[in-house]
Amino acid sequence: MSAPRMEVHAFGLRFANPVLTASGTFGYGSELAGSCPLTALGGLVTKGISLAPRAGNPEPRICETAAGMLNSIGLANVGLRAFLEEKLPFLRDCGTRVLVNFFGETEDDYLRCAEGLSGHGPGIDGLELNISCPNVKAGGLEFGVVPEVAGRLCERVRGATDLPLVVKLTPNVTDVVALARACVQGGASGLSLINTLRGMAIDARTRRPRLARVFGGLSGPAIKPVALRLVHEVARARLGVPIIGIGGIMSGEDAAEFLLAGATLVQVGTASFVRPDAAARVAEELLGYCAAQQVSDVSELTGALA
Ligand code: FUM
Repeated sequence: MSAPRMEVHAFGLRFANPVLTASGTFGYGSELAGSCPLTALGGLVTKGISLAPRAGNPEPRICETAAGMLNSIGLANVGLRAFLEEKLPFLRDCGTRVLVNFFGETEDDYLRCAEGLSGHGPGIDGLELNISCPNVKAGGLEFGVVPEVAGRLCERVRGATDLPLVVKLTPNVTDVVALARACVQGGASGLSLINTLRGMAIDARTRRPRLARVFGGLSGPAIKPVALRLVHEVARARLGVPIIGIGGIMSGEDAAEFLLAGATLVQVGTASFVRPDAAARVAEELLGYCAAQQVSDVSELTGALA
């Protein structure tokens, strides 16, 4: 058999393979390019960008947990202007697809940020609308739990940009399908799920929370079964847009599981903290899985759960 075909098409874009890096785990691309060959990836998703720079939450804002980690970064980032001036030039010629994650504290912030990220040509292939960060007072989850609110935001942002618009969903809701449907009705080109699960960790010796802000978002292999279930629920609803599966992917087989559950693409996040080249290794392992399973085209896996 010839080598399996790994390229996939989604949101009007061609991806060399289905494996992307997740927002907040791979900087703006340039920081990790020396450790992880970007051309081996299907794409990368940048750190979340806001109109103004943000310092983020007080430290400690990361801690390790059983089979995962908690973060409460608070969406620290360089802001739109510095992103365009200092980070985008590298991304223009980085050899992989780039989705820019972005967010706002108000609807108007989201709109202005989407507008500001549009019309720059190569370097920004699509946007990932973040309505699922559990670690900020304004914005984030505020827009991501009530379907009507999320749908209205999507509709307004959709009108502000011609770029593919992927909406990143939270698992911290009772009905993820209702939320997903509202986003698609609002014009989302795709859905990425899941963002982190709200959690906390305590140091029993000091009797203190391990994170300065007490609560954070849980990621890593500990959440993979939850993520698979939610991806599968949304896929079964057949909303007509591609899904990006996220949640504890450490290996090619993990990635395959998300594709079988209904995802077209996947993102690797926490694994990059263990090894900066984790996403490239996942892509290579997925190729090996396809070859071993006699899958001639990786797209065949999407939704092929028996
Ligand atoms: O705290 C953070 O920066 C997390 C962001 C996110 O989960 O989207």
